[in-house]
Amino acid sequence: MTHARILEASTAGAIDEAAGVIRRGGLVAFPTETVYGLGADACNPIAVARIFEVKRRPAFDPVIVHVADPVAASLYGDFSSGCAQSLIREFWPGPLTLVVRKTEIVPPVVTAGLDTVAVRMPDHETAIALIRASGRAIAAPSANPFGYVSPTEAGHVAALLTGVDLILDGGRCKVGVESSILSLAGSRPLLLRAGGAAPEDLERITGPLGWSTDAAVRPDAPGQLSRHYATRTPLQIIAGQSVGNQQHPGERVGLITMLPPLHPERYEAVEVLSPTGDLREAAANLFAALHRLDRLGLDRLIARPVPAVGLGIAIMDRLRRCSSPESGAAP
Ligand code: TXA
Ligand code: MG
Repeated sequence: MTHARILEASTAGAIDEAAGVIRRGGLVAFPTETVYGLGADACNPIAVARIFEVKRRPAFDPVIVHVADPVAASLYGDFSSGCAQSLIREFWPGPLTLVVRKTEIVPPVVTAGLDTVAVRMPDHETAIALIRASGRAIAAPSANPFGYVSPTEAGHVAALLTGVDLILDGGRCKVGVESSILSLAGSRPLLLRAGGAAPEDLERITGPLGWSTDAAVRPDAPGQLSRHYATRTPLQIIAGQSVGNQQHPGERVGLITMLPPLHPERYEAVEVLSPTGDLREAAANLFAALHRLDRLGLDRLIARPVPAVGLGIAIMDRLRRCSSPESGAAP
């Protein structure tokens, strides 16, 4: 097992070294405001293909192209519509990925053969510095093995992926859930994935959004697969405090909850996402909490629902996809 080198992003020369890896067709894991990405030169098909190998993705699957400014975005996709321009003005840099018609220069391996491309400008100085220094757009999915919880710390990447050439450590990701993905390629704007940009905020620009559901559209975003972003430990979403009654003797259960529980002694481990009930803080802590709980080898995890508004929509989406089918949790 080869372990990737981890370089503190603020170290002198770190960005230039990482940029060199990208230019030579290598893979760099780098921080963004949402989660860590596993990046390659977007116009180098072999480098992009390596991403799938390292993530152990079962099939090619479209990846997001990361750019350092809106002008660069227009090299890869058609952002000429008024709606695209308004969204870019309002949300970039930030956790919004836009899906539009692609241009000729995007290799098919990036879009998995689709005629659309997903593009975003991350709100993270290390990500932007890396893109600028490499002189390339960077194609990057989240830097986790296929189907597993996304990484929000450099250590998550190091623990889970082999075959990465370099990991840039930029600390914890401040948003903590992946970007919202909005498709502008169809007849009306369609939210493909709830994420770091609150749907209510997007709708102020787009008007009422279409929402893709598992049943309604084919999962060209695998983040839409029903069990994805999942821990190895089975997870159930259970509301209320009645859960103590449902525990079996000797069972080791972990709890993930927004607010401190009434009976912490009932659990082997408790992760409180935001003692003040702040959904942004809860989103930022969600994946690190899941990673910590999943390392404990517990029998079961229980998650308490959070209010389904703002970032709570993305949090509940990820918890549902993390939960086991047999758990009886909402689909
Ligand atoms: O916050 C994020 O979006 C992170 C950071 C690293 O930027 N990236 C991320 O990438 O979550 P990934 O690959 O884990 O999820 C991107 C999703 C996938 O589900 C993919 O199918 C979808 O975006 N996607 C990419 N291109 C698409 C396209 N042309 N049409 C529809 N969905 C697309
Ligand atoms: Mg992912």
